[in-house]
Amino acid sequence: MGSGVAGDQSSRGFAQRSAPGPATAAVWPNAASIERDGAALAAKAASQLWSAECDIDWRLAPVRPWWLPRRNHVMLASQFLHGERAARSACEALLPLLPDGALRLALATQITDEARHCEAYERYLARLGDISPRRTLLADAFSRIADWKGPAGGLVLATHVVLESEALAIQQDLVRDFPCPILQRICQLAGRDESRHLALGRILLKAADLAARPIDERLALHHALHRLWQDCAQAVVEDHGVILWRAVPRSRLDAGWRRLQVTFRRVGLIGHGEARAFGAAEAAVPAG
Ligand SMILES: [Fe+2]
Ligand SMILES: [Fe+2]
Repeated sequence: MGSGVAGDQSSRGFAQRSAPGPATAAVWPNAASIERDGAALAAKAASQLWSAECDIDWRLAPVRPWWLPRRNHVMLASQFLHGERAARSACEALLPLLPDGALRLALATQITDEARHCEAYERYLARLGDISPRRTLLADAFSRIADWKGPAGGLVLATHVVLESEALAIQQDLVRDFPCPILQRICQLAGRDESRHLALGRILLKAADLAARPIDERLALHHALHRLWQDCAQAVVEDHGVILWRAVPRSRLDAGWRRLQVTFRRVGLIGHGEARAFGAAEAAVPAG
């Protein structure tokens, strides 16, 4: 990313001018110091393996609330599947950008996890006997990530912070009150994996040392993440509205973006004393 922030911001956000470079020490300056953390996470993943075939009771029948049409039930589960497929693809794009060693091994275990989550939702949808296409807004959000050509640390923020910690958290709200024991079991098993993925994101962001990147690059990245967040949040609003006929309060979405700012400060995307500059840039070039 160059210094022409406004020019970059008028593009599709994550589509930048130059392709990500190789996994050099300049891209991951702190990688060597956290190899051990990556190895510990990979080992934990190995100890928590589960099987989509054996650890879910497929003899149970899928359950849906009496007021929800079958078509909407299929739509809901299908969006979970599309989200998992997108997470797997994003991690596959990130893998070759990581240095060889424990960090790459830990991400490889995440890819295996995401593949297992896909398998669980595929089996569930097979039980429902149907599948819905990916909804447009979510497809836009995922293609922003697929088109990412900026610094590798930005891809980690997009996948492991915006998608995993926030967008998926809102999605989980959808299923919390859903009465289907199979769906709840899938979410329970996948949720344990997701918390490890969040931990991996924190480790990778330490390795990337975002705070050392130029502020122009970080401002452009912040804007791209805001657009991604808006697409995801809007998609969830539509899902609630179309599938469950229930609006998501605007305050829920705003609080999500505000919470992300805290994370961005913690990982160095927004540096000490820079919050005002980032807020002003966001106000000057509204996302969307
Ligand atoms: Fe997942
Ligand atoms: Fe995940």
